[in-house]
Amino acid sequence: MSLPEAAALREQAARRRTFAVISHPDAGKSTLTEALALHAHVISEAGAVHGKAGRRGVVSDWMAMERERGISVTSAALQFTYRDTVLNLLDTPGHADFSEDTYRVLAAVDCAVMLLDAAKGLEPQTLKLYDVCRHRGLPIITFINKWDRPGRHALELIDEIEQRMGIDATPVTWPLGEAGFMWGLVDRRDPGRLLRYTRSSGGQLASEEQVAADEAGLSTVPGGPAALEELALLEEIGSRHDDASFLAGGASPVFFGAAISNIGVRLLLDALVDVAPSPSPRHTAAGEAVPLEAPFSGLVFKVQANMDPAHRDRLAFVRVCSGAFERGMVLRHAATGRPFATKYAHAMFGRDRTTMERAYPGDVVGLVNAGALRPGDTLYADERVEFPAMPTFAPEHFAVVRAKDPGRAKQFRRGVSQLDGEGVVQVLVSDRRGAQAPVLAAVGPMQFDVVSQRLEHEFGVLTSLERLPYKVARRTDAAGGKHLESIAEVEVLTRMQDGELLALFADKWALHVIERHSPETALEPLIAAGE
Ligand code: G4P
Repeated sequence: MSLPEAAALREQAARRRTFAVISHPDAGKSTLTEALALHAHVISEAGAVHGKAGRRGVVSDWMAMERERGISVTSAALQFTYRDTVLNLLDTPGHADFSEDTYRVLAAVDCAVMLLDAAKGLEPQTLKLYDVCRHRGLPIITFINKWDRPGRHALELIDEIEQRMGIDATPVTWPLGEAGFMWGLVDRRDPGRLLRYTRSSGGQLASEEQVAADEAGLSTVPGGPAALEELALLEEIGSRHDDASFLAGGASPVFFGAAISNIGVRLLLDALVDVAPSPSPRHTAAGEAVPLEAPFSGLVFKVQANMDPAHRDRLAFVRVCSGAFERGMVLRHAATGRPFATKYAHAMFGRDRTTMERAYPGDVVGLVNAGALRPGDTLYADERVEFPAMPTFAPEHFAVVRAKDPGRAKQFRRGVSQLDGEGVVQVLVSDRRGAQAPVLAAVGPMQFDVVSQRLEHEFGVLTSLERLPYKVARRTDAAGGKHLESIAEVEVLTRMQDGELLALFADKWALHVIERHSPETALEPLIAAGE
């Protein structure tokens, strides 16, 4: 790459922000996603301000836009432009049972928005997801949502984040009035700017912002005197956004708002542009940093087949890590060394796919015919690159799956192998059980439902599930496997995706007994979800 080309590529990368929203189910992730995309779209492309008609209007606009542009909030990645910055929002499944999927998505982003419900504060799934972010060193921006209805006190929420997450929570905006009685937001970077949000005739808060008062005037507005005291307290304890500390994962800037009414959403978008990091060089499995301007390399973070009944194919979602992606380029699959053609590359995943001609670091490309690709795989052009493997989590639920109709055996095997390839569930096999009765190993039982549903709808196979009485799995080796197979309460199976031998135990006590009696047997723990 020539010097001007490298400079142009770095410039494109600097314009990108790739992030995910993490939250407990129901905190408002879909609503916020919608609001962010709509807001960015409206401001950058239509130049109009929507929202006067409240949520109903916003939703129907969104749906029309979805149809028109072929995007969907439930899709894997959403790309939109705001203030000349390209934002790539990657979708994470909300439920804890799908923490493996979430982990894979978080491996592909540079930053996360942690969304909290003002009435609930930190919830179990928020904390679990935060742990994954911390493990990956991801900077976190916090958005405290649903401030339009009664909730907890702002200072109490800040304190909770600091105490339970062990990071500094530094409010950038501060609400005037308690949750449920919000009158406006103070921008702490410029306390003279009070952003007011007015109620529409329908009783709904409209999204229009007005700059309504200066700092001195704050004492005369509803909620003002209390807010002034709180702001003084925040100053006193030195609670200020600090870029270095945020980027190192030690502090989180906090924003307040109500996604449903678009309140505070623009400030969050601005923060994504102004403080969230742009893509930086990623490290290979060998620990080497791959410069942004190196030849193309990308990380597969999700594989999904049959997303759209009109296109029954397998799509791999690849985050560009270095170089420029150009449709038609021939890449190499690091795991097999085989070439991979990219004639069919898509952007904006949804019902209608749009062809993606070019992509830069931080962008997500959907590649069709990805039969050989698995989540965690690396694709590269020219120089060999391999990013660290994605961890599989310790399964805690086990079930044998069988086709109800033996006549559908072939479709059953094809379906199970497909779902294994996507990483929907771990599939364990043994000679004893045979190919028609594989064992599904899951982090959470909802993964079983996905398997049954998809086998039925995509492969026409009705299945039955028989839950097995195991709760703990350990990795073992050939000698260990042989020994363990002789013990009645233990079952040893091979994991399809990587050929690892897993030994299954009823519970940790059963495992302890065997560990005590056979200290020479290899029994390696697997990574617990969220570790
Ligand atoms: P999720 O993806 O995180 O699961 O949450 P989702 O956006 O579906 O939101 C969960 C519920 O919270 C929805 O209500 C949604 O309308 C509501 N909500 C989201 N943001 C706000 C907000 O800023 N203020 C208020 N008051 N509510 C909010 P629902 O009753 O479950 O569904 P719906 O009938 O309203 O769509």
